[in-house]
Amino acid sequence: MKTLLKILLGIVGVLAILAIGGVIYLNSAYPDVGEAPDITVERTPDRIARGEYLAMHVSMCIDCHSERDYARYAAPVKSGTHGQGGELFGEQMGLPGNFYASNLTPANLGEWTDGELYRAITSGVGRDGRPLFPIMPYTHYGKMTREDIYSIIAYLRTLEPIEHDVPASEAAFPMSLIMRTIPREPEHAEAIPSTDDLVAYGGYMINAAGCAECHTPMEKGEFIEGMKYAGGMEFPLPGGTVRAMNITLDTETGIGGWTEEMFVQRFRSYADSVYAEPQLGPRDFNTIMPWRMYAGMTDEDLRAIYAYLKSEVKPVKNAVVRYTPAK
Ligand code: HEC
Ligand code: HEC
Repeated sequence: MKTLLKILLGIVGVLAILAIGGVIYLNSAYPDVGEAPDITVERTPDRIARGEYLAMHVSMCIDCHSERDYARYAAPVKSGTHGQGGELFGEQMGLPGNFYASNLTPANLGEWTDGELYRAITSGVGRDGRPLFPIMPYTHYGKMTREDIYSIIAYLRTLEPIEHDVPASEAAFPMSLIMRTIPREPEHAEAIPSTDDLVAYGGYMINAAGCAECHTPMEKGEFIEGMKYAGGMEFPLPGGTVRAMNITLDTETGIGGWTEEMFVQRFRSYADSVYAEPQLGPRDFNTIMPWRMYAGMTDEDLRAIYAYLKSEVKPVKNAVVRYTPAK
């Protein structure tokens, strides 16, 4: 009996040493991303304009990194909060921890070098070397061109500084360890595909726009095979639960019945000059999809995204109930 106990204790001891070793290894060897590069991003008017377009209407930096008004349809950004951060992406959404979108205005990023910003946006490593939670789709941003990222950096430098303290993010165990292995070096597109090849160009834009992040169901942080853009992801809102729709071109359960014109128009109907978000009652249908911001995309970019969905994405049958009000 005694020897058995000894053996068991021995095994427990070895396992404990392996576990501690593993933790030390993960903490010292990861994130496996090099130093922030030594770069200076020149703030040309062209870059600032392109960066504003991407940050406001395509890659949604300003959507996540501002305060949204959930009392109005599609939760527009509250005026005067552009880039100030503070939105919580947390356990209330079923995430493994509480992650607060950072303050992106110069009041917080003023001391960051361009290289540190570049590394955070494209590899998911913070200034102090901490891994960022991939709710911010940095692996997508790492596939954009280097020049597009430089444009976003140039634009962020022009934001109105807002003093706004944001709580520190905290990942729950074991995500706090797993997360360290996610950041990686960017794999930039060499160039933005020409619009002559609308499908390839649309592929670039749909990646930059992060549509898959909401429209493709995930399991343990990985997109589910065969479900690309098939919808169903749930998002709890104060008044109910909204689900991302199936945006494959399946005719029954997706947008297979939509023409290109209808697709573009669905976005266009929220454009600034023609649209004002209605004030909502507490359980009225609301959505997390930032329609108003995407409405700022050019017709050409929206047409390209439609062309990509139509020719590159397999139609999937998956009926989704758009909204269920809270009890
Ligand atoms: C889906 C929401 C979302 C989108 C879209 C998003 N972010 Fe973030 N971002 C976050 C969250 C949440 C964090 C904090 C992550 C953490 O602490 O682990 C973050 C962190 C950051 C950081 C790190 C700051 C720091 O203090 O460490 C930078 C820089 C940043 N984002 C810039 C951007 C830029 C630029 C874009 C657009 C290209 C963008 N983000 C798009 C949610 C988002
Ligand atoms: C933050 C999450 C989120 C992102 C990012 C997002 N969507 Fe959505 N989308 C939703 C949700 C939730 C719905 C369902 C509620 C609604 O109709 O607004 C939806 C609805 C839609 C619909 C309506 C489909 C129908 O049957 O009525 C289309 C089309 C669409 N999204 C396309 C896109 C495209 C294209 C992108 C990228 C440019 C995108 N979405 C990015 C969450 C998102």
